[in-house]
Amino acid sequence: MVRIWYHDGSDEDQRLPHIPEKNPKFLSPQELFDTVGIKHIVMNADTFREEGVLDKLKKERGYVYEDSVHCHTHMDNAEEELAGYATEHFHREEEIRLVVRGKGYFDVRDPEDKWIRIEVVKNDLLLVPAGMYHRFSLDVNEDMATVRCFIDDPNWIPYNRKDGVDDLEVRKKYLKEITAKYRANKCH
Ligand SMILES: [Fe+2]
Repeated sequence: MVRIWYHDGSDEDQRLPHIPEKNPKFLSPQELFDTVGIKHIVMNADTFREEGVLDKLKKERGYVYEDSVHCHTHMDNAEEELAGYATEHFHREEEIRLVVRGKGYFDVRDPEDKWIRIEVVKNDLLLVPAGMYHRFSLDVNEDMATVRCFIDDPNWIPYNRKDGVDDLEVRKKYLKEITAKYRANKCH
């Protein structure tokens, strides 16, 4: 089951959980959605094909592309691939990720630019909004399999924050929406 918390901010080995020792702040999936716009769905990774639940979600949201990725340290170009995932970036399209095996850490920035860590395990599905900065790390077991879905042809291009991509329209749109929502929630 997913667990979500504010990262301790350390740059040390990201395969470790990085839960702050003092006053850790955990979030519920609803609080995660309200803060950054990521939707979390529990989907049975053993039966989702027969039940047609992923296909239904894809159809509802207009997805046409799907593939599977097994992320581990012996895959082709593992070092390069994992370094790419660990670099803060966003994509132009919304995407779906369903974990079917293993565990990993998906980190996202909150509207105040703090890292929120999402610990995903088997049966966790995330709907990741376009324009949202994120990064990914395996945990210490370094083995995770995921089904990925894209709305159109897969557009894997990562827009890395260090390259100065804040002015891209998709990023501005995401930030505007999420900041307004965040302010509104904070007022309550
Ligand atoms: Fe990404």
